[in-house]
Amino acid sequence: MESVIVSGKNSQLGQELQLVALRYPQFNFYFYTKEELDISNAAQLEKSFSKHHPAFFINCAAYTAVDKAETVQEAAYIINAESVGHIAKLCKKFNTTLIHISSDYVFDGKNKSPYHEYDTTNPINYYGYTKYIGEKLALENNDKTIIIRTSWVYSAFGQNFVKTMIRLMQERSELNVVNDQHGSPTYAKDLAAAILSIMKRQAPNAEYGIYHFSNEGIISWFDFACAIKELKHFDCNLHPVSTAEYPTPAKRPLYTALNKEKIVVAYHIQLRNWKESLKECLELL
Ligand SMILES: NC(=O)c1ccc[n+]([C@@H]2O[C@H](COP(=O)([O-])OP(=O)(O)OC[C@H]3O[C@@H](n4cnc5c(N)ncnc54)[C@H](OP(=O)(O)O)[C@@H]3O)[C@@H](O)[C@H]2O)c1
Repeated sequence: MESVIVSGKNSQLGQELQLVALRYPQFNFYFYTKEELDISNAAQLEKSFSKHHPAFFINCAAYTAVDKAETVQEAAYIINAESVGHIAKLCKKFNTTLIHISSDYVFDGKNKSPYHEYDTTNPINYYGYTKYIGEKLALENNDKTIIIRTSWVYSAFGQNFVKTMIRLMQERSELNVVNDQHGSPTYAKDLAAAILSIMKRQAPNAEYGIYHFSNEGIISWFDFACAIKELKHFDCNLHPVSTAEYPTPAKRPLYTALNKEKIVVAYHIQLRNWKESLKECLELL
Protein backbone atom coordinates (compact mmCIF):
# COMPACT_ATOMS: atom_id res chain seq x y z
CA MET A 1 0.00 0.00 0.00
CA GLU A 2 1.29 3.48 -0.83
CA SER A 3 2.21 5.73 2.08
CA VAL A 4 1.29 9.39 2.22
CA ILE A 5 2.78 11.92 4.64
CA VAL A 6 0.71 15.01 5.36
CA SER A 7 2.32 17.92 7.21
CA GLY A 8 0.22 20.60 8.93
CA LYS A 9 -2.34 18.12 10.29
CA ASN A 10 -4.23 20.89 12.12
CA SER A 11 -4.44 23.29 9.19
CA GLN A 12 -7.87 23.86 7.65
CA LEU A 13 -6.80 21.75 4.69
CA GLY A 14 -5.12 19.08 6.84
CA GLN A 15 -8.30 18.57 8.84
CA GLU A 16 -10.45 18.28 5.72
CA LEU A 17 -7.93 15.85 4.22
CA GLN A 18 -8.25 13.62 7.27
CA LEU A 19 -11.98 13.26 6.53
CA VAL A 20 -11.62 12.75 2.78
CA ALA A 21 -8.79 10.24 3.35
CA LEU A 22 -11.27 7.88 5.02
CA ARG A 23 -12.73 7.22 1.56
CA TYR A 24 -9.32 6.15 0.15
CA PRO A 25 -8.26 2.95 1.92
CA GLN A 26 -5.73 2.27 -0.88
CA PHE A 27 -3.43 4.85 0.75
CA ASN A 28 -1.78 4.69 4.15
CA PHE A 29 -1.98 8.23 5.50
CA TYR A 30 0.34 9.63 8.17
CA PHE A 31 -0.86 13.04 9.38
CA TYR A 32 1.61 15.06 11.44
CA THR A 33 1.07 18.16 13.58
CA LYS A 34 3.74 20.86 13.82
CA GLU A 35 4.91 19.33 17.11
CA GLU A 36 5.30 15.87 15.53
CA LEU A 37 6.82 17.07 12.27
CA ASP A 38 8.20 20.58 12.15
CA ILE A 39 8.97 21.13 8.47
CA SER A 40 11.80 23.46 9.39
CA ASN A 41 13.47 20.62 11.32
CA ALA A 42 15.64 18.76 8.82
CA ALA A 43 16.25 15.79 11.12
CA GLN A 44 12.54 15.26 11.78
CA LEU A 45 11.77 15.44 8.08
CA GLU A 46 14.49 12.95 7.15
CA LYS A 47 13.30 10.59 9.89
CA SER A 48 9.71 10.61 8.61
CA PHE A 49 10.82 9.97 5.01
CA SER A 50 13.10 7.10 6.11
CA LYS A 51 10.31 5.58 8.18
CA HIS A 52 7.51 5.73 5.59
CA HIS A 53 9.17 5.93 2.15
CA PRO A 54 6.12 7.90 1.05
CA ALA A 55 4.69 7.80 -2.47
CA PHE A 56 3.26 11.26 -1.75
CA PHE A 57 4.11 14.12 0.58
CA ILE A 58 1.29 16.65 0.94
CA ASN A 59 2.56 19.89 2.42
CA CYS A 60 -0.28 21.67 4.22
CA ALA A 61 2.09 23.35 6.66
CA ALA A 62 2.60 27.04 6.09
CA TYR A 63 3.08 30.42 7.70
CA THR A 64 -0.34 31.85 6.79
CA ALA A 65 -0.51 35.06 8.87
CA VAL A 66 -0.32 37.43 5.87
CA ASP A 67 -0.07 40.69 7.84
CA LYS A 68 2.28 39.33 10.49
CA ALA A 69 4.59 38.03 7.76
CA GLU A 70 5.46 41.65 6.90
CA THR A 71 7.33 41.93 10.20
CA VAL A 72 8.07 38.31 11.17
CA GLN A 73 9.82 37.82 7.85
CA GLU A 74 12.41 35.25 8.87
CA ALA A 75 9.89 32.73 10.20
CA ALA A 76 7.66 33.17 7.15
CA TYR A 77 10.59 32.63 4.80
CA ILE A 78 11.89 29.57 6.65
CA ILE A 79 8.47 27.84 6.67
CA ASN A 80 7.06 28.90 3.28
CA ALA A 81 10.25 28.86 1.25
CA GLU A 82 13.38 27.26 2.71
CA SER A 83 11.61 24.27 4.30
CA VAL A 84 9.69 23.57 1.09
CA GLY A 85 12.99 23.35 -0.76
CA HIS A 86 14.22 20.90 1.80
CA ILE A 87 11.07 18.76 1.55
CA ALA A 88 11.47 18.75 -2.25
CA LYS A 89 15.06 17.51 -1.96
CA LEU A 90 13.92 14.65 0.25
CA CYS A 91 11.11 13.88 -2.20
CA LYS A 92 13.71 13.61 -4.96
CA LYS A 93 15.84 11.30 -2.80
CA PHE A 94 12.91 9.03 -1.91
CA ASN A 95 11.16 9.19 -5.34
CA THR A 96 8.15 10.88 -3.72
CA THR A 97 5.54 13.02 -5.46
CA LEU A 98 5.33 16.35 -3.67
CA ILE A 99 1.93 18.01 -3.54
CA HIS A 100 2.54 21.54 -2.33
CA ILE A 101 -0.10 24.20 -1.75
CA SER A 102 0.59 27.72 -2.91
CA SER A 103 -1.36 30.93 -3.10
CA ASP A 104 -3.11 33.41 -5.39
CA TYR A 105 -0.96 36.02 -3.60
CA VAL A 106 1.98 35.16 -5.87
CA PHE A 107 0.21 37.50 -8.34
CA ASP A 108 0.07 41.30 -8.19
CA GLY A 109 -3.67 41.49 -8.91
CA LYS A 110 -3.38 43.71 -11.99
CA ASN A 111 -5.05 41.18 -14.33
CA LYS A 112 -8.54 41.81 -15.63
CA SER A 113 -9.29 38.14 -16.32
CA PRO A 114 -8.52 34.95 -14.34
CA TYR A 115 -4.82 34.16 -13.94
CA HIS A 116 -3.39 31.18 -15.83
CA GLU A 117 -0.66 29.00 -14.36
CA TYR A 118 1.85 30.47 -16.83
CA ASP A 119 1.05 34.12 -16.04
CA THR A 120 3.85 36.21 -14.60
CA THR A 121 4.11 36.14 -10.84
CA ASN A 122 4.81 39.39 -9.03
CA PRO A 123 3.94 39.20 -5.32
CA ILE A 124 3.14 42.51 -3.64
CA ASN A 125 3.46 41.37 -0.03
CA TYR A 126 6.05 39.35 1.89
CA TYR A 127 3.79 36.31 2.40
CA GLY A 128 3.24 36.18 -1.38
CA TYR A 129 6.98 36.48 -1.93
CA THR A 130 7.72 33.53 0.40
CA LYS A 131 5.04 31.41 -1.31
CA TYR A 132 6.55 32.28 -4.70
CA ILE A 133 10.05 31.23 -3.57
CA GLY A 134 8.53 28.06 -2.07
CA GLU A 135 7.05 27.19 -5.48
CA LYS A 136 10.37 27.79 -7.18
CA LEU A 137 12.32 25.61 -4.72
CA ALA A 138 9.69 22.85 -4.86
CA LEU A 139 9.92 22.70 -8.67
CA GLU A 140 13.71 23.08 -8.89
CA ASN A 141 14.49 20.35 -6.37
CA ASN A 142 12.04 17.62 -7.34
CA ASP A 143 10.77 16.72 -10.84
CA LYS A 144 7.73 15.01 -9.35
CA THR A 145 6.17 18.15 -7.89
CA ILE A 146 2.58 19.29 -8.18
CA ILE A 147 1.86 22.80 -6.97
CA ILE A 148 -1.74 23.77 -6.35
CA ARG A 149 -2.34 27.49 -6.09
CA THR A 150 -5.51 28.28 -4.26
CA SER A 151 -7.30 31.32 -2.81
CA TRP A 152 -9.53 32.53 0.04
CA VAL A 153 -9.52 29.17 1.86
CA TYR A 154 -12.21 28.49 4.48
CA SER A 155 -13.55 25.47 6.32
CA ALA A 156 -15.52 24.54 9.41
CA PHE A 157 -12.08 23.99 10.98
CA GLY A 158 -9.49 26.61 11.92
CA GLN A 159 -9.58 30.35 11.48
CA ASN A 160 -10.92 31.99 8.35
CA PHE A 161 -13.05 34.82 6.91
CA VAL A 162 -16.32 32.87 7.16
CA LYS A 163 -15.91 32.15 10.87
CA THR A 164 -14.74 35.71 11.57
CA MET A 165 -17.78 37.13 9.75
CA ILE A 166 -20.16 34.88 11.70
CA ARG A 167 -18.65 36.04 14.98
CA LEU A 168 -18.66 39.73 14.05
CA MET A 169 -22.20 39.66 12.63
CA GLN A 170 -23.39 38.18 15.93
CA GLU A 171 -21.54 40.79 17.99
CA ARG A 172 -22.21 43.96 15.95
CA SER A 173 -25.09 45.68 14.22
CA GLU A 174 -22.89 47.39 11.57
CA LEU A 175 -19.89 46.02 9.71
CA ASN A 176 -17.62 47.40 6.96
CA VAL A 177 -16.34 44.88 4.40
CA VAL A 178 -13.92 45.47 1.55
CA ASN A 179 -15.61 45.57 -1.84
CA ASP A 180 -12.78 46.22 -4.30
CA GLN A 181 -10.75 43.02 -3.89
CA HIS A 182 -12.06 40.27 -6.16
CA GLY A 183 -11.27 36.57 -6.17
CA SER A 184 -12.77 33.16 -5.53
CA PRO A 185 -13.38 31.40 -2.23
CA THR A 186 -12.15 27.85 -1.79
CA TYR A 187 -13.88 25.41 0.53
CA ALA A 188 -10.97 23.39 1.95
CA LYS A 189 -13.12 20.24 1.74
CA ASP A 190 -13.37 20.68 -2.06
CA LEU A 191 -9.62 21.25 -2.30
CA ALA A 192 -8.98 18.13 -0.21
CA ALA A 193 -11.21 16.10 -2.54
CA ALA A 194 -9.35 17.50 -5.57
CA ILE A 195 -6.00 16.48 -4.07
CA LEU A 196 -7.23 12.92 -3.56
CA SER A 197 -8.54 12.83 -7.15
CA ILE A 198 -5.10 13.87 -8.37
CA MET A 199 -3.41 11.16 -6.32
CA LYS A 200 -5.85 8.52 -7.56
CA ARG A 201 -5.19 9.45 -11.18
CA GLN A 202 -1.41 9.75 -10.94
CA ALA A 203 0.05 7.73 -13.79
CA PRO A 204 3.72 7.08 -14.58
CA ASN A 205 3.56 9.85 -17.19
CA ALA A 206 1.43 12.16 -15.07
CA GLU A 207 1.79 15.84 -15.64
CA TYR A 208 3.56 17.58 -12.82
CA GLY A 209 3.86 21.33 -12.44
CA ILE A 210 1.55 24.13 -11.38
CA TYR A 211 -2.25 23.96 -11.19
CA HIS A 212 -4.92 26.39 -10.02
CA PHE A 213 -7.85 25.41 -7.85
CA SER A 214 -10.71 27.32 -6.21
CA ASN A 215 -14.48 27.21 -6.27
CA GLU A 216 -16.26 28.66 -9.31
CA GLY A 217 -17.35 32.30 -9.39
CA ILE A 218 -15.60 35.61 -8.89
CA ILE A 219 -16.75 37.81 -6.02
CA SER A 220 -15.57 40.48 -3.59
CA TRP A 221 -15.14 40.01 0.16
CA PHE A 222 -18.28 42.13 0.53
CA ASP A 223 -20.25 39.73 -1.73
CA PHE A 224 -18.90 36.84 0.35
CA ALA A 225 -20.02 38.53 3.59
CA CYS A 226 -23.48 39.28 2.12
CA ALA A 227 -23.92 35.61 1.25
CA ILE A 228 -22.91 34.55 4.78
CA LYS A 229 -25.41 37.06 6.21
CA GLU A 230 -28.19 35.81 3.91
CA LEU A 231 -27.57 32.11 4.53
CA LYS A 232 -27.26 32.55 8.31
CA HIS A 233 -30.21 35.02 8.49
CA PHE A 234 -28.22 37.67 10.40
CA ASP A 235 -29.54 41.23 10.89
CA CYS A 236 -26.19 43.02 10.84
CA ASN A 237 -25.94 45.94 8.35
CA LEU A 238 -23.05 45.44 5.95
CA HIS A 239 -21.33 48.42 4.31
CA PRO A 240 -19.02 48.12 1.29
CA VAL A 241 -15.67 49.93 1.78
CA SER A 242 -12.58 50.32 -0.36
CA THR A 243 -9.18 48.80 0.41
CA ALA A 244 -7.92 52.37 0.96
CA GLU A 245 -10.49 52.79 3.73
CA TYR A 246 -9.37 49.54 5.39
CA PRO A 247 -5.54 49.67 5.50
CA THR A 248 -3.65 46.51 6.52
CA PRO A 249 0.09 45.97 7.13
CA ALA A 250 0.34 43.74 4.03
CA LYS A 251 -0.87 45.06 0.66
CA ARG A 252 -3.53 42.87 -0.94
CA PRO A 253 -3.79 42.19 -4.68
CA LEU A 254 -7.09 43.59 -6.02
CA TYR A 255 -7.90 40.73 -8.39
CA THR A 256 -6.76 37.13 -7.93
CA ALA A 257 -9.33 34.98 -9.73
CA LEU A 258 -7.63 31.82 -10.99
CA ASN A 259 -8.23 30.08 -14.32
CA LYS A 260 -8.83 26.39 -13.45
CA GLU A 261 -9.11 24.85 -16.91
CA LYS A 262 -5.79 22.99 -16.60
CA ILE A 263 -6.69 21.01 -13.46
CA VAL A 264 -10.19 20.26 -14.80
CA VAL A 265 -8.84 18.82 -18.06
CA ALA A 266 -5.79 17.00 -16.64
CA TYR A 267 -7.47 15.44 -13.60
CA HIS A 268 -11.19 15.48 -14.49
CA ILE A 269 -11.98 17.57 -11.44
CA GLN A 270 -15.46 18.99 -11.13
CA LEU A 271 -15.57 22.48 -9.68
CA ARG A 272 -18.40 23.51 -7.40
CA ASN A 273 -19.90 26.98 -7.33
CA TRP A 274 -18.68 29.02 -4.35
CA LYS A 275 -22.18 29.55 -2.94
CA GLU A 276 -23.10 25.87 -3.03
CA SER A 277 -19.91 25.03 -1.10
CA LEU A 278 -20.43 27.91 1.33
CA LYS A 279 -23.95 26.69 2.07
CA GLU A 280 -22.64 23.22 2.85
CA CYS A 281 -19.95 24.58 5.17
CA LEU A 282 -22.39 26.89 6.96
CA GLU A 283 -24.65 23.95 7.74
CA LEU A 284 -21.77 22.57 9.83
CA LEU A 285 -21.18 25.81 11.71
N1 LIG B 1 -5.98 30.35 4.16
C1 LIG B 1 -6.04 30.90 2.97
O1 LIG B 1 -6.88 31.76 2.69
C2 LIG B 1 -5.09 30.45 1.89
C3 LIG B 1 -5.14 31.08 0.63
C4 LIG B 1 -4.26 30.66 -0.36
C5 LIG B 1 -3.36 29.64 -0.11
N2 LIG B 1 -3.33 29.07 1.12
C6 LIG B 1 -2.36 28.00 1.36
O2 LIG B 1 -3.07 26.80 1.60
C7 LIG B 1 -2.31 25.99 2.52
C8 LIG B 1 -3.19 25.54 3.66
O3 LIG B 1 -3.71 26.71 4.29
P1 LIG B 1 -4.64 26.64 5.56
O4 LIG B 1 -5.43 27.88 5.60
O5 LIG B 1 -5.30 25.30 5.62
O6 LIG B 1 -3.53 26.73 6.72
P2 LIG B 1 -3.75 27.07 8.28
O7 LIG B 1 -5.10 26.62 8.70
O8 LIG B 1 -3.36 28.49 8.51
O9 LIG B 1 -2.70 26.13 8.96
C9 LIG B 1 -1.32 26.19 8.74
C10 LIG B 1 -0.73 25.05 9.53
O10 LIG B 1 0.66 25.00 9.34
C11 LIG B 1 1.22 24.61 10.58
N3 LIG B 1 2.62 24.99 10.65
C12 LIG B 1 3.16 26.23 10.78
N4 LIG B 1 4.49 26.14 10.83
C13 LIG B 1 4.81 24.83 10.74
C14 LIG B 1 6.02 24.11 10.76
N5 LIG B 1 7.20 24.72 10.88
N6 LIG B 1 5.97 22.76 10.64
C15 LIG B 1 4.80 22.12 10.53
N7 LIG B 1 3.61 22.74 10.54
C16 LIG B 1 3.62 24.08 10.64
C17 LIG B 1 0.37 25.33 11.62
O11 LIG B 1 0.52 24.71 12.87
P3 LIG B 1 0.13 25.54 14.21
O12 LIG B 1 -1.33 25.85 14.10
O13 LIG B 1 0.43 24.58 15.29
O14 LIG B 1 0.98 26.77 14.19
C18 LIG B 1 -1.02 25.15 11.04
O15 LIG B 1 -1.61 23.95 11.48
C19 LIG B 1 -1.10 26.81 2.91
O16 LIG B 1 -0.01 26.46 2.11
C20 LIG B 1 -1.50 28.23 2.58
O17 LIG B 1 -0.39 29.04 2.29
C21 LIG B 1 -4.19 29.44 2.12
